[in-house]
Amino acid sequence: MKLSTLAASATLGLSAIATAAPSHSKTITYTTVKGYFLQDEPSTDPSTFDYTSHNFGLIDRRYDSDKHDPNTRDLTQWERFHRELEYLNKHSPQHVSYKLVFMGRHGEGWHNAAESYFGTPGWNCYYSLLPGNTTHTWFDADLTPEGVSQASIAHTYWQSQYAEQNIHFPDAYYVSPMTRALKTANITFSGLPLPLDAPFIPEVKEGFREGMSMHTCDHRRSKSYIESLFPWWTFEEGFTEEDELWTGVTAETEEAQDERSRDALDDIFSRSRRGPFWKSKPADVCGGPGHDHDHGHGEDEKDLVISITAHSGEIASILRVIGHQPFGLSTGAVIPVLVRAEEVKEPDGPTASATWTHSAYCTAPPATSTASGCVCAASAPPVTSGFPVGGTTVPTPTPF
Ligand SMILES: *[C@@H]1O[C@H](CO)[C@@H](O)[C@H](O)[C@H]1NC(C)=O
Ligand SMILES: *[C@@H]1O[C@H](CO)[C@@H](O)[C@H](O)[C@H]1NC(C)=O
Repeated sequence: MKLSTLAASATLGLSAIATAAPSHSKTITYTTVKGYFLQDEPSTDPSTFDYTSHNFGLIDRRYDSDKHDPNTRDLTQWERFHRELEYLNKHSPQHVSYKLVFMGRHGEGWHNAAESYFGTPGWNCYYSLLPGNTTHTWFDADLTPEGVSQASIAHTYWQSQYAEQNIHFPDAYYVSPMTRALKTANITFSGLPLPLDAPFIPEVKEGFREGMSMHTCDHRRSKSYIESLFPWWTFEEGFTEEDELWTGVTAETEEAQDERSRDALDDIFSRSRRGPFWKSKPADVCGGPGHDHDHGHGEDEKDLVISITAHSGEIASILRVIGHQPFGLSTGAVIPVLVRAEEVKEPDGPTASATWTHSAYCTAPPATSTASGCVCAASAPPVTSGFPVGGTTVPTPTPF
């Protein structure tokens, strides 16, 4: 896997690493389809927007699909939206597909609480590099009680959207391997009246973890630990027992993170039976003679609605990849996006991979920062190499 190569090279102390990724003759380009959700509108202010105020942000409107369906009058907005999603897929060329992607940020974790407690400069330049203090752990941070209640709000909102709107629950669930995301997904989707053919069995995916800085909150626990928490959840192929990506020495750049987010999306979109890379979609999508599966319920589609439980930085990265305007989420918040994916052919050729970078930190408090970086105590000037103050000790997980 590309990222493990980068991480392995990073531990050799290289400050700029560029490896050639295998050449692709096909890539997928993603776009945000606007006009369906308030979060896409430049006039919506993310800092005050409440996703629970009206249908997750779904705009009340008529759709093209309504015109082709005489029986939509008694349907809810979400029911009609789902028909529209099926309609868009049915009437798109073979190399184009649409999915509704719900992205949820984890509820507040102990690292978020610690950042507020110590202040951002001190946190970034010193405390974030420690695994915790004597009373709290922020290595692979767990949810605070506030974080648990934020996840419960998401749970209750899904429940009410089902009761009032008959919302289509996700067809597939993906989750970051960090404890705070795993537990948020668990609380959000436990005990909902999910359909039997789309149960909540998430796939744990490295590609959706938080941007990897040198902070210990970005270091994950082992696969066995995750299995012990949620024994029936699944893992993407190749998921390693130990965290091979976080180094504690170099940080993933925004460009490197976007590459990994894109790879994770490519994996999800390529798996769809009819999505990009799907081999054998019939040429006549509109259901001419000899076309067997067109019953108007999207039988030739798969996983039209996707749930991803991740992090603020990671969701910001996905939003960049899919061409959505920046939309900061508070802890526990959820954003839906209608995503259009188009497979495009590109000439073969080597693609340069983004590099990871070093960042300066202090080896003792007090630490503060200016626009140009950390300002450390005179006795402990900023350093950029070597393992941070916290060492490699992995604290004992908190039982769930
Ligand atoms: C440890 O950090 C937390 C913030 O996450 C703070 O509330 C607590 O008071 C700190 N404990 C000590 C002993 O300083
Ligand atoms: C959430 O976690 C608890 C504790 O492991 C477990 O009993 C419950 O079944 C989980 N729910 C889901 C939907 O995974």
